[in-house]
Amino acid sequence: MPATRLGILTAGGDCAGLNAVIRGVVCAAAQRQLEVVGFAEGYEGLLDPSRARTLTPENTRGIAATGGTILGSTNKGRFQPRRGPGGQPVLSDALVRAARSALEQHRVGALVVLGGDGSLRTALQLARAGLHVIGVPKTIDNDIDSTDVTFGFDTAVSRVTSAVEELRTTAESHRRLMVLEVMGRHTGWLALHGAVSGGADIALIPEIPFDGDSLIRMVKEADRRGQRSLIAVVAEGARARTGRQMRRQTSTGDSRLGGIGAFVESLVASRTGRETRSCTLGHLQRGGPPTAFDRVLGQQFGVRAVDLAADGMFGRMVSYRFGSVTDAALADAVGRRRSVAPDSQILRHARALGIYLGE
Ligand code: F6P
Repeated sequence: MPATRLGILTAGGDCAGLNAVIRGVVCAAAQRQLEVVGFAEGYEGLLDPSRARTLTPENTRGIAATGGTILGSTNKGRFQPRRGPGGQPVLSDALVRAARSALEQHRVGALVVLGGDGSLRTALQLARAGLHVIGVPKTIDNDIDSTDVTFGFDTAVSRVTSAVEELRTTAESHRRLMVLEVMGRHTGWLALHGAVSGGADIALIPEIPFDGDSLIRMVKEADRRGQRSLIAVVAEGARARTGRQMRRQTSTGDSRLGGIGAFVESLVASRTGRETRSCTLGHLQRGGPPTAFDRVLGQQFGVRAVDLAADGMFGRMVSYRFGSVTDAALADAVGRRRSVAPDSQILRHARALGIYLGE
């Protein structure tokens, strides 16, 4: 590799495990006598390179166990690619020039980007413009192609699991149906894994638009059997067969998926008479310390990113396939959503466990 320095940034919405990846990169780089420069606030840091700082094994000690990102992040900042001819994402020449100059200023030979689909799309644009970029797949949604799992997902599943268990005791006390709305964007990985892990009765996911009448029949049947409580895990992107995905406005004027939990609450309550309540787990799924799995995976991802940089394997994304850490072409991974396929094992197993999926 021409330079003796690596750059690193964390882009997009945060999740647990970002600091574990940073730690993995810093330690593996140090063993190869490579210095690491951390850019602040995601890609925005490339526009303000004076804020970049040197990361060492000493000043990153202990961070693998912590949530958030020590570098800060920006969601949908100025580096979000615009739609170009044919709807293809493009990054302006000015931004590419600014990124190149920030890397040159810090004598960075390769940039490691920790990001979800949107941020990795930007990474691909930079790679196509000739910058030496390596991606690391981050998201609680687990929706990135070319990897079986993203870091942050396991921690989010464990948050959903705890929430289901905590809701069950209050649901049992009051003979209620409790609806838990969880994140996941347009995929149901988080809802499904959380429902299986927590032992929920119902999981509604975007990949299977649910039949309202069938849901009502299922709840009435549980009533007839004398079941005291029911827990439904509902993905934020789920929708009724007859309806659309629901969205809500944020305080900054953007819109995000959300509201389907409250919809299911009122549907069930009005048509069955069963006392029902809903709650939204929200950013509790993203915050806090990573699970042991995400600490291990994150650090392994970091080590692999350094191996790729040292071998000059740019335009690649670290990935996890069939139980091993490996890598894939960034171009194959981005722009393709990894959804829960109709024949996927987790769906089949959820059905076999008696979890109702709204079919
Ligand atoms: O992509 C991660 C994610 O947490 C989604 O599950 C969720 O829809 C979205 O980000 C929330 O974004 P924000 O933090 O901007 O509200």
